[in-house]
Amino acid sequence: MSRRDDDATHPPQPVLQRGRVTLRPSTRADCDFVVSVESHPENARFVGQWPPERHLECMTSADSLHWIVESGNLPIGYAVLEDADDPNRSLLLRRIAIAGKGRGHGSAALRLVARYCFEVLGFHRLWLYVAVDNKRAYRWYLKHGFVEEGIARDCERRGEQYVSMHVLSILESEYRDTLGRPRSRARPSAS
Ligand SMILES: CC(C)(COP(=O)(O)OP(=O)(O)OC[C@H]1O[C@@H](n2cnc3c(N)ncnc32)[C@H](O)[C@@H]1OP(=O)(O)O)[C@@H](O)C(=O)NCCC(=O)NCCS
Repeated sequence: MSRRDDDATHPPQPVLQRGRVTLRPSTRADCDFVVSVESHPENARFVGQWPPERHLECMTSADSLHWIVESGNLPIGYAVLEDADDPNRSLLLRRIAIAGKGRGHGSAALRLVARYCFEVLGFHRLWLYVAVDNKRAYRWYLKHGFVEEGIARDCERRGEQYVSMHVLSILESEYRDTLGRPRSRARPSAS
């Protein structure tokens, strides 16, 4: 894994925006917020747990992208992407967690991540793992056009247990018809 020369905590990632939702590069000062969202009881059983130092390492790594999700300038979550230098043009959505769920913020953030993957990086595939017991997130990804590739059995250790993961992905051609499609505008009401 290559490192940034200057140990910068502001990787040259663009700020991405969709409506009120913004993805901005995470900085060292965000580490405590990120860990607090990650370790919140609503998220901790569904996402891996990293110490602040591991997040910082990711923020300063040349092949990772670490974003704070904001709504109206307030931090509401974070997203982590890995393998941004993959020669196979396959980007891993390592982690996404949103506080204040069910308000559409996660969907807006997912659209921004996918747009960055396919329209900025020009990648071919965006993929992720979702734990088999994370039914809501699993349905959420399928609703947004991700396709199941299979199950990675017992691939993650949680305490003394092993957890299996769905492997989901979306290809560039599929993105155009789903997450990348402009949302239809409401029709003017007939009077
Ligand atoms: C998955 C997650 C990022 C979605 O973000 P969000 O802001 O809640 O998503 P949205 O508001 O855009 O969409 C809500 C949809 O997700 C579903 N959903 C998924 N997890 C949910 C949760 N924990 N609480 C409420 N709704 C949830 C809802 O059923 C809703 O479906 P609908 O649109 O058909 O009604 C967020 O729920 C979360 O942080 N979950 C915990 C961490 C996690 O599982 N991350 C993914 C690991 S691979």
